Amino acid sequence: MSLKAVVTGGARGIGLAISERLAKASYEVLALDIDGSDNTIPCDVSDEKAVAAVAAKIGPVDVLVNSAGIWKFGPIESTTIDDFAHVLDVNLKGAFNTIKHFGSGMLVKGKGSIVNIVSIAAKQANPAVGSYGPSKAALVSLTEQVAIEWGPRGVRCNGVGPGLIPTPGTNNVYDTEAMREIRAKAVPLQRLGSPNDIAEAVYFLTSEQSAYINGHILYVDGGLSKALMTLLPRPDDLG
Ligand SMILES: NC(=O)c1ccc[n+]([C@@H]2O[C@H](COP(=O)([O-])OP(=O)(O)OC[C@H]3O[C@@H](n4cnc5c(N)ncnc54)[C@H](O)[C@@H]3O)[C@@H](O)[C@H]2O)c1
Repeated sequence: MSLKAVVTGGARGIGLAISERLAKASYEVLALDIDGSDNTIPCDVSDEKAVAAVAAKIGPVDVLVNSAGIWKFGPIESTTIDDFAHVLDVNLKGAFNTIKHFGSGMLVKGKGSIVNIVSIAAKQANPAVGSYGPSKAALVSLTEQVAIEWGPRGVRCNGVGPGLIPTPGTNNVYDTEAMREIRAKAVPLQRLGSPNDIAEAVYFLTSEQSAYINGHILYVDGGLSKALMTLLPRPDDLG
């Protein structure tokens, strides 16, 4: 019998690439998405009752990947409390809901792997994206909490933090060649990432090769989040 994996936000972008990578590794993949088209199971992860109902229908799973995520652009002074809360509802509460309802089956089996898709924005302040950074910082914290509470019971929990990844969700940022080039040059590896770069890291964290990794955040960003000091001139630069 094949292993089962649930991937939230699996209809497109990073979640779709993760679903395809896990399917290639012979998982039976169940993709949950608020957009229920294209072979996904319709489910709004921020709605606990909906998540509980889907989890009861699917039964125990071996892997859970939380990739569903949203962001809303705008400076703090014009961000409404509803927008602030909506992002937290999906990115943080949504992950909590799936961890609770799919994790319970893992605890019964005494085995499972959970991977939360966080962001470099969890640690690097990101201008004008409302509660996106705070939601991902809190998701890092939740990841670590699950790791220590459920590690003793055989369930690992880790995170993957993508850098700059063109996807349907971020296309409005990357739709000009000029912007793609400028952003790629800011990355130490000199290129933007792809959904597959993230999917490979997620697959690793679900596999036996990572059996002793628990409570870890693996940043997959070409080194971007370590590049702060490259912004500063050196004495030689001044001639
Ligand atoms: N693309 C990037 O550069 C980048 C960088 C860092 C982190 N991330 C994170 O990666 C994840 C995937 O991002 P992406 O770029 O693929 O975005 P995307 O918008 O292309 O895909 C997100 C998917 O999540 C689904 N979704 C949204 N709200 C939902 C809800 N309430 N319930 C269920 N599904 C819901 C959407 O329908 C969509 O299919 C997100 O958590 C995002 O924060 C992305």
